[in-house]
Amino acid sequence: MSDKKASLSIDGKTLDLKVHSGTIGPDVIEVSALTGNGYFTYDPGFVSTAACESKITYIDGDKGVLLHGGYPIEQLAEQSDYLETCYLLLYGALPNAAQKETFVNKVRMHTMVNDQMSTFFKGFRRDAHPMAIMCGVVGALSAFYHDSLDITDEKHREISAIRLIAKMPTLAAMTYKYTIGQPFMYPQNHLSYSENFLHMMFGNPCEPSNVNPVLAKAMDKIFLLHADHEQNASTSTVRLAGSTGANPFACISAGIAALWGPSHGGANEAVLDMLNEIGDASRIDEFVAKAKDKDDPFRLMGFGHRVYKNFDPRAKVMKLAADEVLAELGLENDPLLKIAKRLEQIALEDEYFIERKLYPNVDFYSGIILKAIGIPTSMFTVIFALGRTPGWIAHWNEMISGSYRIGRPRQLYTGPAQRDFVPLDKR
Ligand code: CMC
Repeated sequence: MSDKKASLSIDGKTLDLKVHSGTIGPDVIEVSALTGNGYFTYDPGFVSTAACESKITYIDGDKGVLLHGGYPIEQLAEQSDYLETCYLLLYGALPNAAQKETFVNKVRMHTMVNDQMSTFFKGFRRDAHPMAIMCGVVGALSAFYHDSLDITDEKHREISAIRLIAKMPTLAAMTYKYTIGQPFMYPQNHLSYSENFLHMMFGNPCEPSNVNPVLAKAMDKIFLLHADHEQNASTSTVRLAGSTGANPFACISAGIAALWGPSHGGANEAVLDMLNEIGDASRIDEFVAKAKDKDDPFRLMGFGHRVYKNFDPRAKVMKLAADEVLAELGLENDPLLKIAKRLEQIALEDEYFIERKLYPNVDFYSGIILKAIGIPTSMFTVIFALGRTPGWIAHWNEMISGSYRIGRPRQLYTGPAQRDFVPLDKR
């Protein structure tokens, strides 16, 4: 708690409120005492509300800073890798060499899914959206691991975390294979996490897999850059579901559902759809005008962020990774990429976007890399979900291992006051 105090004057009464200071970031006024005095706070979209205390990730949206365990995302992207970052999120510290090896091996030994899972997939239509399948199959994991669903047991929580991180690539690739009618590929545990994912996505049982290391490195970076982003909509969903005591697989499935929307994880798919719809550089001005028109609901996908009012630091790294992948694949002259680059330039120079601090976000560039790697647009949000899994599970674990209460927001009720029921023949 800080030495500062806040007070609120209302109806001639003054209420003293506690003020908390974090390590960095704005002070937080505790308002939980208001309920006892007959008041609620009102903050639609939670723009000013801290719903929890957390040690995992810090964002300064004005400065464009993102830290995991205090480490800047740029340094992690440059010097670390996805699984090491997963360890950092889960355990709060970077692993030493032995800890890293043990962790990577544990993940490696849990990549396979129960064979019964393949039957589960067959219940879906082949043209189902991959995110619809992911919501189902990840939630279904809770039906397979009765041995480790005691959320009060630290070891159970840990094994669930490892299982989720290890099995997400397998499930994601199975989802893709199912929708294109190809056989599921078993994981190959001599491969790295990202190589394994590309092997299960693009390999087939008739040919040896030949994973391009440049693409595997880019894939690892995409996972790493999505690994956590503090209390965003899907993470808050995971925490809210978890606050009821629901099992981790059910909670992550809830997070996947929240991520699906185009304002959140679905934006990477929406960016590519938008670039395709624009189709030609000559139509960019028309789309920018639509985005600026108050009477048109259209928004430029991949621009703007609830928290970043500056360049998204993940977008900067992603942009460099995109250049590397496009050069490796000889796609520098890709027409969609040209549209994307021009759009970015226009938006960065246009008064409307400058005034509202609408910068390109991480999804603007990730879609370009994923497309170049050959991942179909409908799988983009699945990739985001895969990358975000350690963040979700770290936040869930942080909440469950501390003191927490069931999440139960209040409301400003504006419906009818109490009235007597009117029988049908009198209405
Ligand atoms: N194109 C055009 N105008 C925009 C856009 C956009 N992409 N984003 C925001 N605005 C305008 C908005 O109309 C409003 O204008 P005004 O003040 O004149 O009414 C102003 O900017 C503020 O917008 P807001 O809706 O109050 O901002 P928000 O914080 O509620 O929304 C957002 C953030 C990300 C939902 C929004 O910027 C958006 O819809 N962007 C496009 C979708 C997208 O790329 N989402 C991915 C976010 S990054 C990945 C993730 O973390 O999930």
